Amino acid sequence: MPTRYDLRLTPDLTTFAFDGEETVTVTVTEPVSEIWLNAAELTISEATLTRAGGPVHRGTISLDEAHERCGLRFAETIAPGTWLLRLVFRGTLNDKLRGFYRSTYKDQSGTTRPLAATQFEATDARRAFPCWDEPAFKAVFATTLVIDPSLTAVSNTAIVSERIEGARKIVAFADTIKMSTYLVAFVVGELEATEPVMVGRTPLRVWCVPGKRRLAAFGRDIGAASLAFFEGYYGLPYPGDKLDLLAIPDFAAGAMENLGAITFRETALLVDEAAATHSELERIADVVAHENAHMWFGDLVTMDWWNGIWLNEAFATFMEMLAVDAWKPEWQRWTTFGVSRSAAFAVDGLHSTRPIEFPVGAPREADAMFDVLTYEKGASVLRMLEQYLGPGVFREGVREYLRRHAYDNAATGDLWAALGRAAGQAIPALMDGWIFHPGFPMVSARLDGGQLVLAQQRFTYLPEPLDSVPGRGSAPVVDRDQQWQVPLQIRLEGSGTSRVERVLLTARETRVPLPGTTDAVVVNEGGHGFYRVRYSRDLLDRLVRRLPGGLAPIERFNLLGDAWAATVAGLMPIEEYLDLTAEFRGERDKNVWVILTGSLHMLNRIILPGDRPGLERLVRDRIAGAVEELGWAPRPDEDELRRQLRGDLIRALGTLGNDPATQARAAELYADRQRGATTVDPNVLPSLIAILAHAGDAARYEEFVKAFRAAATPQEEQRYLYALVGFQPRPLVEQTLAKTINGEIRTQDAPFVARSLLMTVQGRELAWDFVRANWDTMDRLYPKHGLRRMAEGVTGLATPELERSVHAFFGERKIDLGGKTLEQYLEQLRIAVTLRSREGSRLSAYLARW
Ligand code: BES
Ligand code: ZN
Repeated sequence: MPTRYDLRLTPDLTTFAFDGEETVTVTVTEPVSEIWLNAAELTISEATLTRAGGPVHRGTISLDEAHERCGLRFAETIAPGTWLLRLVFRGTLNDKLRGFYRSTYKDQSGTTRPLAATQFEATDARRAFPCWDEPAFKAVFATTLVIDPSLTAVSNTAIVSERIEGARKIVAFADTIKMSTYLVAFVVGELEATEPVMVGRTPLRVWCVPGKRRLAAFGRDIGAASLAFFEGYYGLPYPGDKLDLLAIPDFAAGAMENLGAITFRETALLVDEAAATHSELERIADVVAHENAHMWFGDLVTMDWWNGIWLNEAFATFMEMLAVDAWKPEWQRWTTFGVSRSAAFAVDGLHSTRPIEFPVGAPREADAMFDVLTYEKGASVLRMLEQYLGPGVFREGVREYLRRHAYDNAATGDLWAALGRAAGQAIPALMDGWIFHPGFPMVSARLDGGQLVLAQQRFTYLPEPLDSVPGRGSAPVVDRDQQWQVPLQIRLEGSGTSRVERVLLTARETRVPLPGTTDAVVVNEGGHGFYRVRYSRDLLDRLVRRLPGGLAPIERFNLLGDAWAATVAGLMPIEEYLDLTAEFRGERDKNVWVILTGSLHMLNRIILPGDRPGLERLVRDRIAGAVEELGWAPRPDEDELRRQLRGDLIRALGTLGNDPATQARAAELYADRQRGATTVDPNVLPSLIAILAHAGDAARYEEFVKAFRAAATPQEEQRYLYALVGFQPRPLVEQTLAKTINGEIRTQDAPFVARSLLMTVQGRELAWDFVRANWDTMDRLYPKHGLRRMAEGVTGLATPELERSVHAFFGERKIDLGGKTLEQYLEQLRIAVTLRSREGSRLSAYLARW
């Protein structure tokens, strides 16, 4: 059992190699002659074991690369007690954005400069130093970095000493708290920091490569606000001695919660607040708050094993909402959370979904756990529970859980126990169905005499699972009788009166007596429940009559989202859904529009080319009125959400609606802005760029490639990069594809660009050919989650021919994307193709009328 690591690492940023030595204090509990620990892509040259006053035992080293382990054999038996294990090793700063890796950026003179950073979660600390690389082996880390004197080093804790020795700077960091290996971090480079702000007794700084400090203020503000919020909520001080937020130019994930040294991709931390859209700012607030939430949930208290990763990620996602909502209540963060909830529904409505908590063996399986079920479904069911128990009781349970398991590990049962003590009721009966079983219920609502009849059944899009999935045995069988304990919140609307009823649905069906004056019924009032609702025709009609003002935004969001899900599942004819969308022309909530435009995008992917003009006309009919009313420039008294809505709707009208007038106006405005003749609202500008790309030619493409290269902020760079995906001409699609493997696009972004192209109508066939031909190259170049993320694009290949080709490719190549990922993508593809074959001709007829 390791208890302490004294680590010394000497990275060389010119040769991209590092030397390391460590002394691990280990407790031997029974006599042994062998020691096994994790190591990967390291050469270990020396291993000795000593204890005070005793002889030196030299170990014979063997590496098992397949299992990422290293074995040390000793000639003598090692007796129980405390020992010092000293290892000397060497590794490379790799370019795969995992372990101890290199990143590069261009400095102000255009010269490429190197940087070294780490990313250890889930199982890559073993690539930087030999260790017991499992979350339950918590230990104290004391790190020393030996670096070039011109560079700066940051690690988990404050610097305790720094001295120059010859041509080297030796930086020693304070001991960490007892924590898991995946939370250790070091960053070395020419770094710049903001002045520290004090949050209680914690100094907080934002770090970036030189020249970008002007983009750090917003991240620092939410960093400080959320840290203070969490100290209050958790009732425990921040567990570290300082907090650094670091923007790394190459970063595989969005951000990583290393204790005291949180790392981010640049778009998730740095921003010019005055030039950003609401969504871009919200993203940064979310990510920063999320990682700060982990300092307690994840870092101080850690799951026993990776099957319980939801305890980390669902909680951090839930807490992120609470913190951002407290920071900017006007952002209505919980309404926007509806978008996340529906992303979870989309996967959890598959036969190939999985329970939130799910067995994990090998590292690849751990990696596959970082998905919408862990994050978004997990956060949704926590929100449902919080609302059911009451926020105060819930918080009390969380506090007790953290106090009890601080500096230690815990499992789901421990959380239930703590919440149960706070609530004075047993939690497992209520929650186990949501955590340990796959899927979610659809609650149907109908009237029978004076009663409301509510019944639950598991929701799936397809009646049957796919019968064959490449590389898998027989498909899982859905338990249709599966039941949940569903906390229902129902609002009964009478003429001028309104009443809320809470019912815990524990059986298949329940009946609620209705007062005679009831005029309409809202099931899932407030929208916190993780279930979909299917209203009978008359109940739905009564709700539609109350639109828009009679329902809260999240309720309208759910009404439309549930209707669309029912349509995709074949429970509502497409004509009815499209008629329903006409009732939302007056809608002014940006989130509700996400459902509307999302469903129209899906239709765009499945329709026959001849139906496209009809769909474009329908899109214009639904959106044009709103754009006309909103105009192209903000009014003085408008809030941020309204501005974001304007940007979103203009974009949809100019791209999906292919509206010539909108495209002309966009071109004019963009040109005026470029020559300084006008200003454009930051929320509208990215839409202009997207519209110009949609209608753009080779000259525009060149212009945007240049703008991508010259971008002044991470957000601007992203806008021009993703705009490239929108160009229609074939040679331009080919150019963008080439950039996904030729080094012009960072490997942190390339998989996402390829994914986006696979999901476009004009580019998908070319992109699919390209991906098939270059799969191995991509596998070699991309960071580890890259292929899995890119492959999601196959869900957009929604024609029967392409679907066959997808099955053939994955079948032949026997590709494993980890966990159930591939099965899920293939099922989502089948759902799209099924929608096309089932609704296609009626959809054609409907669109022909437009
Ligand atoms: N712990 C994760 C980072 C991570 C993700 C490590 C996957 C290893 C594999 C971090 O807390 C996280 O969740 N990051 C998110 C952003 C967050 C705001 C949802 C991410 O990287 O996407
Ligand atoms: Zn997280």
